[in-house]
Amino acid sequence: MLKIKSAELVSVCGVSSKLPEPTLPEFAFVGRSNVGKSTLINGLMNRKALARTSSKPGKTQTINFYKIVLAKGGSAFFLVDLPGYGYTTAGPAIKAQWGRMVSNYLGDTGRLRAIFLLLDIRHKPSADDKQMYEWIIDGSHTPIIIATKADKIKKSQLTKQLKLLRDTLTLASGTAVIPYSSQTKEGLGEICALLRSPL
Ligand code: GTP
Ligand code: MG
Repeated sequence: MLKIKSAELVSVCGVSSKLPEPTLPEFAFVGRSNVGKSTLINGLMNRKALARTSSKPGKTQTINFYKIVLAKGGSAFFLVDLPGYGYTTAGPAIKAQWGRMVSNYLGDTGRLRAIFLLLDIRHKPSADDKQMYEWIIDGSHTPIIIATKADKIKKSQLTKQLKLLRDTLTLASGTAVIPYSSQTKEGLGEICALLRSPL
């Protein structure tokens, strides 16, 4: 776990707002709506509800910058919570606006230390997931894949599900895939280690 001195929400960007000036390394969390981005960010911050979550998809509709200051040495970075894609009840105009907002942010690659792409361990990655993966690769980033909700499958299915994920996305060899569960905290230590010593 990270020893955190402080964690606070410092910027919220809507479709029409300008991105904040990059000041600290940023770790972005992307993935389909409801995959568990905000939940993972809470897990990393060791907070129950600083990042708002919901059982209904489409909870996060803005780009939210959480500033983390570590207890030891005082090093600091941002965890950036993005709106999810594939949220079907949003109208096409709204979806297009979110798409532009997210791609504008992710395209500003100088500010990004790493991108975490979250995928639900239970499901075959969707066409949207595949597109997002390819888009990240095209932007010269190697995403860290987080397979969320690992508590929802049997241990005996783990290898099979991870293979399905790797094969469907045709992941570049050496791409990290980390199973994570907000319930059991499986994977938390590994993800924290990546934040402490970024790629
Ligand atoms: P958007 O903001 O809509 O893009 O969704 P999100 O990706 O931020 O998802 P969120 O963190 O709000 O989680 C969606 C739902 O999944 C919530 O009900 C969470 O409690 C649940 N959830 C997230 N991670 C896990 C997990 O590891 N295990 C289980 N069992 N449930 C999880
Ligand atoms: Mg969210």
